[in-house]
Amino acid sequence: MSEKCDFGLIGLAVMGENLALNVESRGYSVAVFNRTTEKVDDLINGRAAGKKFVGCHSIEELVDNLASPKKVMLMVKAGPAVDALIEQLIPLLSPGDVIIDGGNTHYADTERRTKYVEEKGLLFVGTGVSGGEEGALKGPSMMPGGSEAAWPIVKPIFQAIAAKVGPNDDIPCCEWVGPRGAGHYVKMVHNGIEYGDMQLICEAYQMLSAGLGLSNDEIYEVFDEWNRGELQSYLIEISRDIFSVKEGDDYLVDKILDVAGAKGTGKWMSQLALDLGVPSTLVTAAVYARTLSAVKEARTRASKVLEGPTASKTFSADERKQWVEKIREALYASKICSYAQGFVQLQAAAKEHDWPLNYGDCALLWRGGCIIRAKFLDRIKEAFDENPQLENLLLHPFFTTAVHGGQQAWRDVVVLATELGLPVPAFSTALAYYDSYRRERLPANLLQAQRDYFGAHTYQRVDKPGTFHTEWLELRRTPAE
Ligand code: ATR
Repeated sequence: MSEKCDFGLIGLAVMGENLALNVESRGYSVAVFNRTTEKVDDLINGRAAGKKFVGCHSIEELVDNLASPKKVMLMVKAGPAVDALIEQLIPLLSPGDVIIDGGNTHYADTERRTKYVEEKGLLFVGTGVSGGEEGALKGPSMMPGGSEAAWPIVKPIFQAIAAKVGPNDDIPCCEWVGPRGAGHYVKMVHNGIEYGDMQLICEAYQMLSAGLGLSNDEIYEVFDEWNRGELQSYLIEISRDIFSVKEGDDYLVDKILDVAGAKGTGKWMSQLALDLGVPSTLVTAAVYARTLSAVKEARTRASKVLEGPTASKTFSADERKQWVEKIREALYASKICSYAQGFVQLQAAAKEHDWPLNYGDCALLWRGGCIIRAKFLDRIKEAFDENPQLENLLLHPFFTTAVHGGQQAWRDVVVLATELGLPVPAFSTALAYYDSYRRERLPANLLQAQRDYFGAHTYQRVDKPGTFHTEWLELRRTPAE
């Protein structure tokens, strides 16, 4: 192919290769490069054979093969590899060219790189890409941020390859998120919410299985049913499917070791929530649940020592049915809290970094293509479209009504789990968040008194303005000996 290519892509691991094929399938020509060049040849001679691809064996060759303004997307391991490639690309590119990082990058790196690349006269985009292998190939959710001037340049290609939603399947799950690291921040919150959703589904599974004694076949039916209602989502759908997979007579899910892995984006969200001072308790509970699952040997030892409730409960068929519905309601109410927390964190981050985020658009980006895709996100989009300054999703009438409706069931499920000795950290932290958030008065009055007592940290009063300190030792009642 003698003509210059529309798009360049570096990094042909699973996501990069599938994304390159996706771009080409929308009518664009693509130049590709990978550090281990056999992967370039494998792609060109394999899945890309006969397609509008140019396989390159150096970065110089890749840049030479691009039409201006040149667009080079990096799909490489997040971290120093991205910095190293940026350094190699800068001298080869011209003003107006765009470097795109589509990896799972920490937003702070994207903040820094956008400024750096702009100083060198080029444009930079840091984009979240979600949807796994299939999403990358057929239509991911994309969350781009970075240099504002880069958006018109990459928009046609990004929106062409992104997942589509809406009644006519024509609304792309890709919109400009905001300056610098905003796109990668939104992607991180997406991943944190994904942690919460997955943990909630796992707790529901535990209640159905260890709590109510449902078989895997029955759990399949329950998830299938749930996927037809307000919980309809990709994660419920794949969870349902998992309960149908067998090895001979045995279910595969029962053979999988109960030790969870993690790549760290949930932890980032949790750490940043602590830095911002916002209560993203669901992602944090989900991260800790994975951490606790990982100490399998310690748990095995402890299981032989530490006692819990022994009397197992039996349920009639009718009771089971009622509990299944209650667990569904608890899951839905907890999920609403989780999303409410995610958006509160986004609002706080937007304020700190001066990002003009559109929260309705964020919900739309997650509507299709990505792991947390769900029907429910339409409602979140509507809520923020109606009131872009909505303080908390729980305060939108739709979600207020939803949590009110499920509230009793939610409480009952947390009580039942406690009675049975089944851990439900995400269900219960969601409920604790709800109860804390809805209470005008919390016991922090005592906490402030304690801080003032031992550290003279002062306190404020409900009956008059000002800052106060009390000599508690002088005023206290002398305790009886
Ligand atoms: P992950 O663990 O995220 O899948 P990986 O498999 O180590 O990361 O690498 C993903 C992609 O980044 C690969 O295309 C890899 O190139 P190789 O096939 O040559 O391993 C690329 N990559 C990783 N580090 C790189 C570096 N320092 N420079 C260029 N490409 C790099």
